[in-house]
Amino acid sequence: MLSHAGTRVLETHRLVLRRFEEKDAAAMFAWAGDSQVTRFLRFATHKSAEDSLAVLRQWQEAYRCPDFYEWAITEKETSRPVGSIALNVLNEHDRSGDVGFCLLRECWGRGYMSEALSAVLEFGFHTVGFNRIEGVHSERNPASGAVMRRCGMQYEGLSRELYYSNDGFQDCHRYARLKSD
Ligand SMILES: CC(C)(COP(=O)(O)OP(=O)(O)OC[C@H]1O[C@@H](n2cnc3c(N)ncnc32)[C@H](O)[C@@H]1OP(=O)(O)O)[C@@H](O)C(=O)NCCC(=O)NCCS
Repeated sequence: MLSHAGTRVLETHRLVLRRFEEKDAAAMFAWAGDSQVTRFLRFATHKSAEDSLAVLRQWQEAYRCPDFYEWAITEKETSRPVGSIALNVLNEHDRSGDVGFCLLRECWGRGYMSEALSAVLEFGFHTVGFNRIEGVHSERNPASGAVMRRCGMQYEGLSRELYYSNDGFQDCHRYARLKSD
């Protein structure tokens, strides 16, 4: 069984990962409303900060559940939220989960997501007790695979049209890391 701990604050060299608050709606809209960021994602691109606020209101409720893991990625230097990262339970019995993430476009290429994902994997394996954590990305979105590899996830193959994104069905590369890796 997993030992759920809820969305706890995680700290890295340059980032603090924390729970979202309703006041983060405008910051979230800056990435969730950017069609270049959401191109390969499954949620509809937000049309206004009201859409972001509606999501954040749902998450305030969800944070009451200890198995809900959804972090705002904030820069230590500025305290501003620049992205999000989620850890989802796939199967409690198998102690398996998956990760999903997105980042404000102006922050791409600085290594932020590799830093955030490393912290989430560490938390997932050693605090919650996951045995296996997966990630998938569109074959047209190689930066996401680079992040997964940098964080020690291993390539497991290609699944055709695995999900439907804002840019249609996506053939996806699959990665996973085990606790023992
Ligand atoms: C994917 C994403 C999270 C990457 O975040 P990031 O903080 O820029 O990633 P990092 O800086 O930690 O690492 C980027 C890696 O991708 C590589 N990369 C960047 N653009 C690339 C491209 N077009 N093709 C191949 N590799 C690319 C970088 O070289 C780096 O790899 P390296 O360390 O081996 O050099 C970010 O681009 C994003 O939010 N995209 C939109 C949302 C999304 O696609 N989420 C993932 C869905 S599965």
